[in-house]
Amino acid sequence: MCLDLGACGVRGMAYRIRNAEIDRSAYYSVDDFDTVFALKSVIDELERQIGTHFESAYITGNFGPSFFKMTAKNTVWANDHKITASDIKSQIAEIDAPDGFYPMHIIPLRYDTPKIRNMLSPVGHSDRQLVSAFSALFFDGEYMKKISEILRHAHIRATAFYAPQFLGNSVMRARKQTIMFIDFGAENTTASIWTDRGPVWYNGRAVAGNDLTTEISTRLNAPFSDAERIKRNVADLHPGEFARFSPADSAYAFSCADVNEIVIPFYKNLIKSIHDDCAEYIEKYNPSKIVICGGGARINGIEDLIATHFPDIQITKKDTDWAVRTLGEYIWAGELPRRRAYIARMQRVQNRFARIARIFHRKPKTQKRNVPILPSTLCFDMMRPETYTMFRAADISVIHVDIMDGLYVNRIAGGLDELRTIRASWAGHLHVHLMTDAPAEWARGAIDAGADTVILSTNTAGLRDAIKIVRASNRRVGIALNPESSVSLLKSVLRDLDEVMIMAVTPGAAGQEFNQDVIHKISVLNATRKKYGLKFTISVDGGINDKTAQLCWAAGADALVSGSYLANSADFPLAVQSLLKKS
Ligand code: DX5
Ligand code: ZN
Repeated sequence: MCLDLGACGVRGMAYRIRNAEIDRSAYYSVDDFDTVFALKSVIDELERQIGTHFESAYITGNFGPSFFKMTAKNTVWANDHKITASDIKSQIAEIDAPDGFYPMHIIPLRYDTPKIRNMLSPVGHSDRQLVSAFSALFFDGEYMKKISEILRHAHIRATAFYAPQFLGNSVMRARKQTIMFIDFGAENTTASIWTDRGPVWYNGRAVAGNDLTTEISTRLNAPFSDAERIKRNVADLHPGEFARFSPADSAYAFSCADVNEIVIPFYKNLIKSIHDDCAEYIEKYNPSKIVICGGGARINGIEDLIATHFPDIQITKKDTDWAVRTLGEYIWAGELPRRRAYIARMQRVQNRFARIARIFHRKPKTQKRNVPILPSTLCFDMMRPETYTMFRAADISVIHVDIMDGLYVNRIAGGLDELRTIRASWAGHLHVHLMTDAPAEWARGAIDAGADTVILSTNTAGLRDAIKIVRASNRRVGIALNPESSVSLLKSVLRDLDEVMIMAVTPGAAGQEFNQDVIHKISVLNATRKKYGLKFTISVDGGINDKTAQLCWAAGADALVSGSYLANSADFPLAVQSLLKKS
């Protein structure tokens, strides 16, 4: 998951990676000054869309006051010394930040040794002295603390922080090109110039979008939130003759032109001061492009205002989701060597297998055994043939199809059409879990669509009829027992069931935590079954992982359903094996 934390909104991008490829991605944003609220909403929505639970994220955003410095480090050894990677690392570690700041991006500019100058990397070279120059971006410690606090509230760990312009440079700049970034944030405006050698000029100023909103709010005598909305709706550096306030804001005795009389000088001053600060560097490094981003880039005509100060430079305007998208691209590009290695490894295994198969002139006999692990469709893409191939490769013989009608549980998922599609792709057993009202109708539908086992939910009207319908069609029938229900609820129907499925989570979503109380229920059911000589199987659904699985087996379970644990593991067959382990 990648997040862009801004002062007045959060943007998020999440990816699901399978077999070294992105197989699903989602974008979501919330504009709100309450960053904790915005962050939680974004995470919830992305988790819902991707079907997984995130614990950590890559972070970008405007991290408050920041500045840039070139630093040089010098190490002297008594005798000739072979320079190693760890020497360079310790030089980097020595870069000291001024009080209250710490370095975030450190870019090596040059290594000099007395004998060799400007070498790319001195590692392996023998010398007595190593001098290196770095460019470093430093960020305000207070802001970073605030951000960590916000993330902690949302139970998210930061894997790494990246300044948006650092990312922009890495993703957008071609070799030998110089580009400039201007990021119009809510609390800070940052501008920088990047060459092959990293940033050569970097400037963060505290005058930004929120100051403009404050100004509008004072002059209009309107609350800050109204002023912010008016700014977003109205600000236009090319105001049209007929531009009007939206009906919600028409109560203010101001016109759009009045608002723009505040907006235009504000941006004129801001851009002029950026121009004056960097004029010398523009002349020296001659950037071919200015990339403008951040909330301020949304203002109509801002590029023309910039063009008046930087007439010969091409201006590119980026959307508000640019920073978070760029972060995603940067991380993904960094993963490239690992992806290539993964694909090469798979290829080698396949080639070796093919060679062995050729030696014997026939496919080696694989003794298929049925494993009592049921992957849940909620967490897999059942439209892709690869999913079924993967299941087969791990000896899966039963698929657990989750169906939710939006009434019995809040969500709608699966459905009879999906069940039919799965049936068409899968010759094995289909174990259908109906989290629906009207169990009799759904049971009939599920049987017609190809179910082999139908699991019904308790607390539904017509449950007994539904059991009869399934039995009459010679399919297996079971009941899912919700976490809050006790085993005694099933007393009167136990003899009619082929299966009791114990829910270890509240039905409705994958990725929830396993409820330990169910272990006792499994033992009670197991004892009852023995005592009365009954034949029903006991399965468990929800929160299964390699640890909870062992508890279930020990208590007497016969089969386990697993969604997120299997879906999130890098190696599917291995994950299936790990669920089969009995202590
Ligand atoms: C929950 C479903 C389960 C769920 C299992 O309503 O019935 O089948 O997908 O997913 P995990 O293993 O992630 O809890
Ligand atoms: Zn289920």
